[in-house]
Amino acid sequence: MTFLFNSDARRGAIFANAFARELPDVPFTIDAATVDPDAVRYLITWTAPEDLARYRNLEILFSLGAGVDQFRPATVPEQVKIVRTVEEGIVRMMQEYVTLAVLALHRNLPGYLAQQRAGDWHDIPQLQAGSRRIGVLGLGQLGQAVLDRLKPFGFPLAGWSRSPRQIEGVTCHHGELGLNEMLTASDILICLLPLTEETRGFLDANLFAKLPKGAALVHTGRGPQLDHEALVASLDSGQLSAAMIDVTDPEPLPAGHPLWSHPKIMLTPHVASVTQPATAARAVIENIRRHRAGLDPIGLVDRSRGY
Ligand code: NDP
Ligand code: OXD
Repeated sequence: MTFLFNSDARRGAIFANAFARELPDVPFTIDAATVDPDAVRYLITWTAPEDLARYRNLEILFSLGAGVDQFRPATVPEQVKIVRTVEEGIVRMMQEYVTLAVLALHRNLPGYLAQQRAGDWHDIPQLQAGSRRIGVLGLGQLGQAVLDRLKPFGFPLAGWSRSPRQIEGVTCHHGELGLNEMLTASDILICLLPLTEETRGFLDANLFAKLPKGAALVHTGRGPQLDHEALVASLDSGQLSAAMIDVTDPEPLPAGHPLWSHPKIMLTPHVASVTQPATAARAVIENIRRHRAGLDPIGLVDRSRGY
């Protein structure tokens, strides 16, 4: 019942130590070339291996991150459980990144950076936090964690999910009607939706038009959710004032792409959260223990929803 780690050797070594300490009866390898494929019961990887079918006895396919869209869940054999990894490192980093983005947008940082480049010293009218409405698309583990971290700043907080939710201090919306209600009242919109067929292309011209004029976008979901041309057009027309973008399509963003140089865009290379190996190994080991005890792993993907 081998565990195969299919990623970088540095993180693999940290996983290997944790397995040796906590699950010594599970052989651990980072060497896909020499492993007996029939022995592999657990596989953790970020990118989907093209030769998944060779692991005929695979029981769990772990994503090294919180998203699983890269696996195209519908193509993974039915008997294999797909499990995402949401560990405290990912959560903490996402809280930091979104807080950074919201404060930068709230305090007009893109505008001040442009003024600095132009040698222009004057203030930009500043809204107080109590008047800057935040809307979060996706009220899962990360959406909720981000909202929790934003609470002390005093922004009016709202969120949107597929099913109804109740979160203290957050106006929760769901469904089509709920989406429109939230969009029309979001001065800063944050996307933390998983990529599914329903959310592909979700951040489009139609959605941007529903936001208050001058609203800003923080995108930390997945690149294919964003219509890049619509974003640029909405920024150029003033419908959107600024955006902080962590995920693009494709990644890496090609040289010369308009997102690189747009003055109203702050761009980072998919680093909002990075899986932290020590805490991720703990989460994965706990999930193997649960699986062996006949319990569902935490982060088990519902194939019918795709996340
Ligand atoms: P979860 O699965 O915990 O939550 C997903 C949320 O999105 C849920 O609230 C769900 O609604 C909602 N949702 C999904 N589909 C729809 C839909 N069609 N309409 C309305 N709501 C929908 O995911 P996480 O919070 O853990 O992670 C979210 C995403 O963040 C990941 O899938 C990944 O793509 C991205 N991510 C990006 C990182 C980065 O570095 N940029 C790092 C980590 C993650 P409901 O509650 O009703 O199920
Ligand atoms: C993830 C990511 O899904 O890094 O964890 O994007």
